[in-house]
Amino acid sequence: MLGCFVRRGCPLVCLWALLLPLVSLHRLDQRGQRGHSVRDRPKLLLVSFDGFRWDYVDRVPTPNFHSIMDEGVTVERVENAYITKTFPNHYSLVTGLYAETHGIVANEMYDPIMNQSFSMETDSIYESRWWEEAVPLWVTIQKAGGKSGAAMWPGSDVKIHGMFPTQFLQYNASVSFETRVERIVDWFSAPKEKAVDFGVLYWEEPDESGHNLGPQSSLMDVVIAGIDEKLGFLINELKKAGLYEQVNLIVTSDHGMTQLFTDNIIELDEYVSRDLYTLVDKSPVVGILPKEGKVQEVYNKLLDANPNMVVYKKEEIPTHFHYQHNIRIMPIILEAKEGWTIMQNRTGHVMLGNHGYDNTLRSMQPVFVARGPAFRQNYVKTSMRSVDLYPLMCHILSVRPLPNNGSLLNVQDLLSSQPVPTMPSTPPRVTEYSYAPVIGSFISVVMVLCFLVFYVRQVTLKQLPSLKHRSREMSQPLLQEDLHL
Ligand SMILES: *[C@@H]1O[C@H](CO)[C@@H](O)[C@H](O)[C@H]1NC(C)=O
Ligand SMILES: *[C@@H]1O[C@H](CO)[C@@H](O)[C@H](O)[C@H]1NC(C)=O
Ligand SMILES: *[C@@H]1O[C@H](CO)[C@@H](O)[C@H](O)[C@H]1NC(C)=O
Ligand SMILES: *[C@@H]1O[C@H](CO)[C@@H](O)[C@H](O)[C@H]1NC(C)=O
Ligand SMILES: [Zn+2]
Repeated sequence: MLGCFVRRGCPLVCLWALLLPLVSLHRLDQRGQRGHSVRDRPKLLLVSFDGFRWDYVDRVPTPNFHSIMDEGVTVERVENAYITKTFPNHYSLVTGLYAETHGIVANEMYDPIMNQSFSMETDSIYESRWWEEAVPLWVTIQKAGGKSGAAMWPGSDVKIHGMFPTQFLQYNASVSFETRVERIVDWFSAPKEKAVDFGVLYWEEPDESGHNLGPQSSLMDVVIAGIDEKLGFLINELKKAGLYEQVNLIVTSDHGMTQLFTDNIIELDEYVSRDLYTLVDKSPVVGILPKEGKVQEVYNKLLDANPNMVVYKKEEIPTHFHYQHNIRIMPIILEAKEGWTIMQNRTGHVMLGNHGYDNTLRSMQPVFVARGPAFRQNYVKTSMRSVDLYPLMCHILSVRPLPNNGSLLNVQDLLSSQPVPTMPSTPPRVTEYSYAPVIGSFISVVMVLCFLVFYVRQVTLKQLPSLKHRSREMSQPLLQEDLHL
């Protein structure tokens, strides 16, 4: 019966029968990619140059940053997380959460429930529980069957919710940028079953020089040009490995840097006795833990003490900072005005540059450039929040984001192809597959079978000798593929 249909149809019908399965397979393939097919997951490398302020790219020639800007996207204004310090912001980038929610509220913390302190100067940073109020993206990807690699990103050598990154380097400031890059590129270019999907790469500069020299120093020009050369090294290594056109590369930072002036010092000892409190986190946003029953007394002594310092009781911290609802945020915080330093007294090392201030200050904001197959080309966006990066990365990596404070909607214009409207909160699932391609493929199989029946009959009759070999080769593999459905 089917044979009759084919026999009576014109050659176009046969051609259609041959092409339809191809189209159907192609559609299924695309859907597979947007679902959880690990093998075809797009690649993403997130790079942070600590303390790289947004305007450094226009200060000296930075050809490598500019090549990414020309071929990809730039965000002019990135509002990062309060407080604008290294640990809180690096964790916000990979969780999409404000510090009050991810729990790494400062570089130096005290947790009154744990009765323990967190400090970069001790091994406390390796204790999992500090980090486990959130789940970093590398853990989420691995739980979804993907792989990740980390070269010294803050927190990436800590076991969080039972997991390290698939590949990672133990933090060691002496390991060169070039070595970190080589390791990351190796992980990306490993055989398919082992290759990482998501990489994070961290470098300590230009933060360190920014603190020591002050961002206004002309010596910073050389430092910034040096960072651009490092970026050039990374680009070149990716090109050598044949990865540059595949990998989505995001280059950003945790915060900016502002100039300090040696006279702009606020000495707490002038206003309140050290016996009344413990100083938990350092300038420019100082965490004050008053001794038992002394909150009001300490607060009163500091409130109008110095016009260059704002004093907040925890419950008064402005809501736009999203910096209140965590036990690790101290009962009183002091925020220095830009360029000022809060100390107990003048003893000790005085820096010429610092960060940590109000995240709406332009000087505190980081660079943001990105390029790769997922991104638009030569596109400049006015503003985003750094927490928006997380849902963007999840979208690119086809991973379901955990609840977060960012919004894909805010940043989807950075993408080369816009997400389908249902995307923002829930990426497509396998169950959302339509039956259409399956039915289409089934019909196609039937059509191809019809065609074959027809064809074999014709060949037997030796009426189409010239088509013989080509048709066999084309139709048989298609049939096999389709029968797997
Ligand atoms: C907190 O820990 C310190 C030692 O680090 C100890 O002296 C103190 O008694 C502890 N406080 C409480 C409430 O357990
Ligand atoms: C840190 O890296 C340097 C340079 O590679 C190396 O010499 C040193 O042994 C490393 N330190 C640790 C503790 O691994
Ligand atoms: C300043 O503080 C340090 C401890 O932080 C102390 O050793 C020093 O005596 C203090 N200097 C003055 C002048 O109070
Ligand atoms: C941030 O996201 C977390 C997780 O969804 C949520 O609990 C928290 O309330 C959010 N914070 C803000 C300020 O919306
Ligand atoms: Zn710093």
